Amino acid sequence: MTRIDFDKYESFYSRRTHGMRSSVMRDLMAVIAMPDVISLAGGLPNTESFPARTLDKVMHEVAMKTSAAALQYGPTDGFEETKQNIVKVMAEEKTVVDPNDVIITTGGQQGIDLVTRILVDPGDTIITEAPTYPGAIPSFVSFEANVIQIPLDDDGIRTGLLLAELERLEKAGTRPKFIYIIPNFHNPAGVSLSMERRLEIVEMAKEYELIIIEDNPYGQLRFEGEQLPTLYSLDDNHNVIYLSTFSKIISPGIRLGWMVAPPPLLAKFNLGKQAADLCPSTLAQMIVNQYFKDFRWQDYVEEVIKVYRTRRDAMLAALTEYFPEEASWTHPQGGFYIWATLPEYLDTVDLLALALEEQKVAFVPGSGAWVDGSGANHMRLSFSVASEEQIDEGIKRIGKVIREQMDLYKALQG
Ligand SMILES: Cc1ncc(COP(=O)(O)O)c(C=O)c1O
Repeated sequence: MTRIDFDKYESFYSRRTHGMRSSVMRDLMAVIAMPDVISLAGGLPNTESFPARTLDKVMHEVAMKTSAAALQYGPTDGFEETKQNIVKVMAEEKTVVDPNDVIITTGGQQGIDLVTRILVDPGDTIITEAPTYPGAIPSFVSFEANVIQIPLDDDGIRTGLLLAELERLEKAGTRPKFIYIIPNFHNPAGVSLSMERRLEIVEMAKEYELIIIEDNPYGQLRFEGEQLPTLYSLDDNHNVIYLSTFSKIISPGIRLGWMVAPPPLLAKFNLGKQAADLCPSTLAQMIVNQYFKDFRWQDYVEEVIKVYRTRRDAMLAALTEYFPEEASWTHPQGGFYIWATLPEYLDTVDLLALALEEQKVAFVPGSGAWVDGSGANHMRLSFSVASEEQIDEGIKRIGKVIREQMDLYKALQG
């Protein structure tokens, strides 16, 4: 790489870039890839269990039967057949959608970027959970949003606090541009929004005329407990924009997600998407469509859920065995993540440095899930990628670092 000692391009950067920052997870990708590190950091799906033969058959069919179209540009909002397949995926969560209300995106991440690009002017207020998806923060910050974070607990965002904030904002003459919610198996907190709170949020959106962004990449990955309705399906007032992705049910490598929104909003998202990338990958869409034609997509989801459930159990058992009793953690019924809370005096960024250097183990420090960098005594532990043995060993090593730091703190306190 060319070396330049100072940033001579400084004066060229747009004002928008000044607040831009990298997501902690992206920063950790290089570390995660190091062979001698046990990584409980990445929220990566377990692509190892996707059958190579299935991919081979699907790609062969696409190449032999539709190669010219697969290699061509396509419509900005995606192919009709892909939309029909999305309708089927959403039906699995008892959510009925009109395919005309769907737009295909480049991963679920583009949906977050597009809603922010289209709805937010610098200084506009948006509301998120605290913690929120660390990968959404760079989008919110780059469009210079004023982000207000409302704490969540085991039942999701605390609706009493949300309501109080909405009242406060209304008095101040501010209407938030949207409320960003991850209802199922939250990234990073692992919790799900209770039925009661789902109804409350939909009601609040109606009363205060608000837009809810429902980001639901993990809804299909339930290991136990009863499926809960999507906010989109509960809303009869067109207040919910729904985002999801094929990343966790097929593969993130195909980079296909989707948004569902009322037609006027969809038209604007379409314009934003034209500017961003002209169209989603036609090749990837053809692969997905062929896969849906030749295979029962739910079979793979059912298979992979078994792997994730076993690993979740392994992580919960290891936490009980190796973490100090001063720590607590969530018990997710699905998804990829457990969220651990440590004594307030511990900072998980410092802890990560020690864990990597001394124990060769990685996790995501909690502060990446807050716009203002608070939440330092939390950590996200992912059970989706590591084997059961690695999970046991990884948690043991993290537990050791935590105990050492607690002992040090206590010794210094006298
Ligand atoms: C809550 C949430 N939203 C969006 C995304 C991005 O999805 P994709 O990989 O399809 O871009 C992720 C990925 O981890 C996520 O956890």
